[in-house]
Amino acid sequence: MKRSKRFETLEKRPIHQDGFMKEWIDEGFIAMESPNDPKPSIKIENGKVVELDSKKCEDFDLIDLYIAEHGIDKENAERVLEIDSTQIARMLVDPNISRDEIIKLTLAMTPMKIVDVVTQMNIVEMMMAMQKMHPRRSLATQSHVTNLKDNPVLLAADAAESALRGFAETETTTAVGRYAPFNAISIMVGCQTGRPGVITQCSVEEALELALGMRGFTAYAETISVYGTEPVFTDGDDTPWSKGFLASCYASRGLKMRFTSGTGSEVMMGYAEGKSMLYLESRCIFITKASGVQGLQNGAVSCIGIPGSVPTGIRAVLAENLICVMMDLEVASGNDQSFSHSDMRRTEHLMCQFMPGTDIISCGFGAIPNLDNTFAGSNTDIEDVDDYLVFQRDLKVDGGLVPVTEEETIRVRSKAAHAIQAVFEGLGLPKITDEEVEAATYAHSSHDMPARNLVEDMKAAQEMMARNLDAADVVKALAEGGFKDIANAVLNLLKQHIAGDYLQTSAIFDKDWNVISAVNDNNDYQGPGTGYRLEGERWDKIKNIPFALDPRTV
Ligand code: 5AD
Ligand code: CA
Repeated sequence: MKRSKRFETLEKRPIHQDGFMKEWIDEGFIAMESPNDPKPSIKIENGKVVELDSKKCEDFDLIDLYIAEHGIDKENAERVLEIDSTQIARMLVDPNISRDEIIKLTLAMTPMKIVDVVTQMNIVEMMMAMQKMHPRRSLATQSHVTNLKDNPVLLAADAAESALRGFAETETTTAVGRYAPFNAISIMVGCQTGRPGVITQCSVEEALELALGMRGFTAYAETISVYGTEPVFTDGDDTPWSKGFLASCYASRGLKMRFTSGTGSEVMMGYAEGKSMLYLESRCIFITKASGVQGLQNGAVSCIGIPGSVPTGIRAVLAENLICVMMDLEVASGNDQSFSHSDMRRTEHLMCQFMPGTDIISCGFGAIPNLDNTFAGSNTDIEDVDDYLVFQRDLKVDGGLVPVTEEETIRVRSKAAHAIQAVFEGLGLPKITDEEVEAATYAHSSHDMPARNLVEDMKAAQEMMARNLDAADVVKALAEGGFKDIANAVLNLLKQHIAGDYLQTSAIFDKDWNVISAVNDNNDYQGPGTGYRLEGERWDKIKNIPFALDPRTV
């Protein structure tokens, strides 16, 4: 066929590098409304759920059983099931009806009933509902701080910059697992340098991750995965009960935690049972609620390529975020994994959560360039940060970030690099040279860093655990190294583990260590003039991007 120049040109556009699939229902390659999804139903006899979403209790799998035992409001479920789903969907978008009123209904639903409700909404209606339903009134976002070489000096400097830029939470992982203790303390020290009050986590194998938390090297955890079909769940020798137990372990040490799930994981692992991605995700959200966990990282997360490839997939992602907040859970709403080569499409996805606001808009905005992202790259990375600041300013939307100057950024990076140098010295870890401190201060990526002795670092990171060092030793090393203010910040963080107030739903800290959560900052949106408004000092700060010209001086 003679080719059209128009079509040839279009095929070269970035969007054509993305993968798109037609629906394949038998394999669950369908975002919403699979013909195999059950009809919503509930039957309760003598205080026991005997039928759930068209399944009789003798046919329950582990997930059904767990939800039936711990995740159903047995008093109201039968009544709420009878209410027309369209009517409830209308209540969700009606500004006159408060979040509190709606929560009473949504908490009494079944996994399929709640899916049926959100299915009635178009994308703008979902955003309207999200604006009202996310538990914490004020907005926040989370960063990824990692690098290809697990370089601790660069991690500390990047974490400091991330905190200065406004991220409320910062997450790291490793290129090589054995580095984990170094990565955890590097971002903790870095964040407390940039802006005290930022909480940090290190996503690694579950037992080690818990151990890091118990020693105070991290303040929260979120990659405790749950899945929507039994074969996927049990694949890693897990059950809903083992995850529930793990959740209790975190709570027992005063550590904030949330689970992770997201559309597409069951398809990716080959056991979707022909159900829609959204229905299976709804089961995960119910498992989370049933476990007593305060929140969930969802929105496909690392599986975003799967819903992203099928019709209405990006809408399904907002729908799962919405179900999460309808279950009165904190949502950390995806946007944390690159899924598109098209800048327009990356923004399309981001806007679904950015415009209405969520508790944590991106559960991993790369505060480092994607080449250094050992989570495999985020939907937005540090090179997008000025675009993001302009989105906030153009639309008068608080996306959780603030403009910074080059000068103050260099200052906090340098301070954090010096602080981690002092910590390494105080703890008897391999030396951090002045040359490394200087490089980390001005670096963009790990390519700008001198090489370290990786074998020696890895050995020392292991020994750090064997020597039973904990965060109190980090505090001591900071204080003795001349960084009393950072020592105090880390100590304050440790005190918070004991107070435990930040285990409340959607909790983050302000710079004075006040907890801001759904308890004292609950979302009271009820139309214009209510809810979160970007005003006053905060708006002055957000609109004041350093690259805007001042007409008086031009
Ligand atoms: N479902 C469950 N867990 C997920 N994770 C990421 N995406 C999903 C998902 N869709 C978790 C995994 C991974 C970490 C980064 O987050 O545990 O290792
Ligand atoms: Ca995350």
